[in-house]
Amino acid sequence: KDKSTVSITVVGASGDLAKKKIFPALFALYYEGCLPEHFTIFGYARSKMTDAELRNMVSKTLTCRIDKRENCGEKMDEFLKRCFYHSGQYGSRENFAELDKKLKEHEGGRVSNRLFYLSIPPNIFIDAVKCASSSASSGIGWTRVIVEKPFGRDSGSSAALTKALKQYLDEDQIFRIDHYLGKELVENLSVLRFSNLIFEPLWSRQYIRNVQLIFSEDFGTEGRGGYFDNYGIIRDIMQNHLLQILALFAMETPVSLDAEDIRNEKVKVLRSMRPLQLEDVVVGQYKSHTKGGVTYPAYTDDNTVPKGSLTPTFAAAALFIDNARWDGVPFLMKAGKALHNKSAEIRVQFRHVPGNLYNRNFGTDLDRATNELVIRVQPDEAIYLKINNKVPGLGMRLDRSNLNLHYAARYSKEIPDAYERLLLDAIEGERRLFIRSDELDAAWALFTPVLKELEGKKIIP
Ligand code: BG6
Repeated sequence: KDKSTVSITVVGASGDLAKKKIFPALFALYYEGCLPEHFTIFGYARSKMTDAELRNMVSKTLTCRIDKRENCGEKMDEFLKRCFYHSGQYGSRENFAELDKKLKEHEGGRVSNRLFYLSIPPNIFIDAVKCASSSASSGIGWTRVIVEKPFGRDSGSSAALTKALKQYLDEDQIFRIDHYLGKELVENLSVLRFSNLIFEPLWSRQYIRNVQLIFSEDFGTEGRGGYFDNYGIIRDIMQNHLLQILALFAMETPVSLDAEDIRNEKVKVLRSMRPLQLEDVVVGQYKSHTKGGVTYPAYTDDNTVPKGSLTPTFAAAALFIDNARWDGVPFLMKAGKALHNKSAEIRVQFRHVPGNLYNRNFGTDLDRATNELVIRVQPDEAIYLKINNKVPGLGMRLDRSNLNLHYAARYSKEIPDAYERLLLDAIEGERRLFIRSDELDAAWALFTPVLKELEGKKIIP
C-alpha cells in the first residue's frame, strides 16, 4: 500500500491554461491510471468559488480519448470528487496557510508530497512562490513548483527572476515548463538519432546543408494581445520552443539518458552558438485581409494591442553553431501568427549528391532534388524522407517520393497532450524535459542583443 500522497495545487485555477490544458491533462493521467493512489487536486485563485463550482467549471473541459470512451463519465465523476477549491490572494501567507490546513486534512497523516502549478502572470510569480513555500510546503515529503514562461523578457530580467525564485526554492524544486519538450515527436528526436544507425553519421556539416525549424499558426493573437505585445514572436516562440528543438537536434550524444547528462549537452550547444545578428533576422507583423468574404483583423486592430505597435508577429532568423559538427550550417527559424496554416516542423535539407550520375543524363531538374528529412511535430505527426526514385516502367524517369512514417496510419493510439507527459514527469521527479537555469541563461544570451537592437532602433516590421 502506498503510504504517501500527492497534492497538486493549480494556482491560477480559473485561467485559460488551467482550463484548457492542466485539468484535462490531470484527468487524462487519472484515466490512464498514472496518478498515485492517494492524490488531491486543489484549485487556487482569487475569485470566490465553491468546490461544486470548480468541479462544474472543470467538468466542461474534460474529454476522453477516442479509444477510451468506456466508463468515461464514471471516471470523470470519480476524478471531480478529488478536486477542491480554495480562494485566496496570490501574495497572502495567511491564505496559503489556510490552504495548507486543508491539504493536511486530505493528506490524512500520510507522507505528503506537494506540487504547485503556477499558472499566473509573471508579476505575481514571486509573491506566490514566497507565500506557497513559506506557508504551504510539505513538512516531510517533497515540494515542487512548476512555472510557465515568460521567464523574464531578456537576460537581465530572467536572471533577476531566477535569483528571486532561488531565495525560496532550490533549483531541483523548480520545474520550468517548455511544453514543446512534451510533444511526442520532439521527444522522439533523440530516439531517431541515437537508436538508429543511419541518421547519426549524416548529422553534421558534412552532409546537412541547413536545418529549418518552422512554427506557424493560422490565427492571430485574438485577445491575448496584452501579453503578446510585450513579448513578440521571438520571445514567445523562438527563444524557447524552437531553440529547445534546435538544442535536442544538434547536441552531442549524452553520456546517459539522465536529466543532467542530457541538459549538459543541450547547454553546450546553446553556449556554442553565436548570438543572433540583426542582419540575420527579418521581422513581420500581420495585416488585415479578406478571404471568402470574411475580413480578418490586423494585429493592431486587436483592442488589447496598442496602436502603432511594432511588435513582430512573424520572424525568420538564421542561427549558427560554432562547433566542429555544425560550423557554417544555418539553422533557420521561422515563426509566425495569422499565417496560412497551423504547423510545427523540422526540415533537414541534405547536400547535393556529388557528381550525381543521373544529373548528366536526366537534366538539371534533379540538381535541386536533394534529400530532405521532415519531422512534422504537429498536426498529423509524421516523419518522412524525400528521396529520388525511379518511376516504374521500361524507360528511365526519376521522381521524388517519400519514405513515410505517418503516425495515424502506423499507431492506432491517440497521442497524449504535451502537458500530460510533463505533469507526470514533475510528479515522478523526472527533470529531463524541464529547463535548467543555465540553459535558460544561455538561451537568453542568444536573443537579448538582437531584441535590444530591434526595440532600440524601433525597426519597423
Ligand atoms: C505558447 C505561446 O507557448 O505556445 C502561444 O505562448 C502559442 O503563443 C502556443 O500559441 C502554441 O502551442 P501549441 O502547442 O498549440 O503549438
